[in-house]
Amino acid sequence: MEPTLQYTIELIKGAGDILNEGYGKKHTVDHKGPIDLVTEIDRKAEAFIVGHIKADFPSHSIIAEEGGKYAGEKGTRWFIDPVDGTSNYSRGLPMFSVSIAYAENGILKLGCVYDPIRDECFSAERGKGAYLNEEPIHVSSTKELIDAMLVTGFPYDIPKREDNLDLFVDIIKEVHSVRRLGSAALDLAYVANGRLDGYWEVGIEPWDIAAGALIVIEAGGSVTNTHNDQDFMKPPYDIIASNGGIHDKLLPFFKARDRE
Ligand code: IPD
Ligand code: CA
Ligand code: CA
Repeated sequence: MEPTLQYTIELIKGAGDILNEGYGKKHTVDHKGPIDLVTEIDRKAEAFIVGHIKADFPSHSIIAEEGGKYAGEKGTRWFIDPVDGTSNYSRGLPMFSVSIAYAENGILKLGCVYDPIRDECFSAERGKGAYLNEEPIHVSSTKELIDAMLVTGFPYDIPKREDNLDLFVDIIKEVHSVRRLGSAALDLAYVANGRLDGYWEVGIEPWDIAAGALIVIEAGGSVTNTHNDQDFMKPPYDIIASNGGIHDKLLPFFKARDRE
């Protein structure tokens, strides 16, 4: 069997059911770091996704947030974030998602981001466009920074937040607004369907961005690292995703940061 978009959509919706069942209930919240949380639902949803992939594609490698790495063939790799937005989820804030991507030989092929609360499934297969449920989606046509609504996120490593605070201060002065929603995968999905015009984050993780980045690309947007390199799936995972129209206008903010 070959991995397909339909397979990935069914898998992510199964995981979404687990999130919905647990939503709003009292959780067992463990700390992976001073402010980096994991609940029993993160673990349950990840076990569900990984269990299916291991059964259906036993030779594939898997990088999943809560379980670490499962070594397999180098050329076939899944990236899984079972709950992207755990801090929101653990407090009953309805802004979180499940994210699953599949890559072959380092090239992202399939990506799904699912918001189970709103039953919004964003998906893309390389070369075949991007969708929200059954409908094709496209990035916005915003061209000027002053009209742009952007979104960003901050790492759990508190000292590293300084880096993004400097960027935040520089960028917010020049744009319509900057949101901080708490789920990088949804941030990217919202750039893909034009709710937002751009997203950036420094020091993100591969499972946060793999699926959403492919969805943005397939929706007609641009995704690069902060040096404008399209090979963004590598450390230190500093990423900019946009509608394409404002990409060149965002890059100088990051160049200025490099000079410091
Ligand atoms: C986090 C969210 C958040 C982003 C953080 C991520 P998690 O993922 O995507 O928006 O700013 O960098 O770690 O921990 O909720 O899966
Ligand atoms: Ca995440
Ligand atoms: Ca997570």
